[in-house]
Amino acid sequence: MNINWYPGHMKKTKESIQNNLKLVDVIFELIDARIPYSSRNPMIDMIVGDKARVIILNKSDLADSKVNIIWQDFFNKSSIPSVLIDALKGKGIDKLISLSNEVTSEKRLAYAKKGVKNLPIRAMIIGIPNVGKSTLINTLTERRGAKTGNKPGITKSNQWIKTKGNLELLDTPGILWPKFEDQQVGLNLAFTGAIKDEILDVETLALRFIEDMIKIYPELLIDRYKVNLEDKTALEILDSIGRIRGCIVKGGEIDYTKAGNIILDDFRKGNMGRITLELPES
Ligand code: G4P
Repeated sequence: MNINWYPGHMKKTKESIQNNLKLVDVIFELIDARIPYSSRNPMIDMIVGDKARVIILNKSDLADSKVNIIWQDFFNKSSIPSVLIDALKGKGIDKLISLSNEVTSEKRLAYAKKGVKNLPIRAMIIGIPNVGKSTLINTLTERRGAKTGNKPGITKSNQWIKTKGNLELLDTPGILWPKFEDQQVGLNLAFTGAIKDEILDVETLALRFIEDMIKIYPELLIDRYKVNLEDKTALEILDSIGRIRGCIVKGGEIDYTKAGNIILDDFRKGNMGRITLELPES
């Protein structure tokens, strides 16, 4: 999805989400477990304030399982409970429901004292594009393939959908803007496909990705492409991968765009293995 964010637009989105905050008991902040830092909105704490919140590390099936635990601990220590899920397969949903009960227990207890029992928990999903908001809504509500609204902010025709676990979900997610200032954040978002390959050409993006992989998961590159990394530059590695994968144009030249697409596509689909590009301390 392509949204051009400008200041007026951000302000409107922030206000419309804040208006909807009053309607819900809990916020589901959805992020991408492969890039938990880069996939967070920079103003999220200010926007959400002290509303009960659960951080949902989605796409955990594609992320490094050891690092998943590190991030989960990190968020839990920062006093926002977090849960690892795979929204496509519905993994982790029960845990999400139990956390939603925990973080709203005080409110529900207060209502119970007034005689209101089994109060549904009203929730709203928010997050930057591509973190899996529509997928999670569809999984929670058991809708098949329904595309949720893709306009930033919240549309006026809010509807509540009952889901399992006594949740009531706002049917339209809050679409937030990503961080813009940091170059590595931009790259990480582009690697995952959250911003379409528009900030850099595919070849440059793939080269930057290879550079990062050499530092953090060299063995996955070797396993997947049977390349020798020793003393090689990213360009030489891209060249080898292109050659091995038959990305050759007339005259025996390597088609770097084709080779770059193979690598980025492999990462996005998890074909290289489970990869997390960021650690909390970095
Ligand atoms: P959004 O509403 O936040 O923008 O995200 P959306 O649900 O459209 O999900 C974006 C892509 O991520 C989709 O891929 C979706 O299938 C995939 N996805 C969502 N959750 C998970 C998950 O837990 N695990 C995995 N492996 N994939 C997940 P897509 O349909 O191929 O879209 P695109 O990548 O071509 O945009």
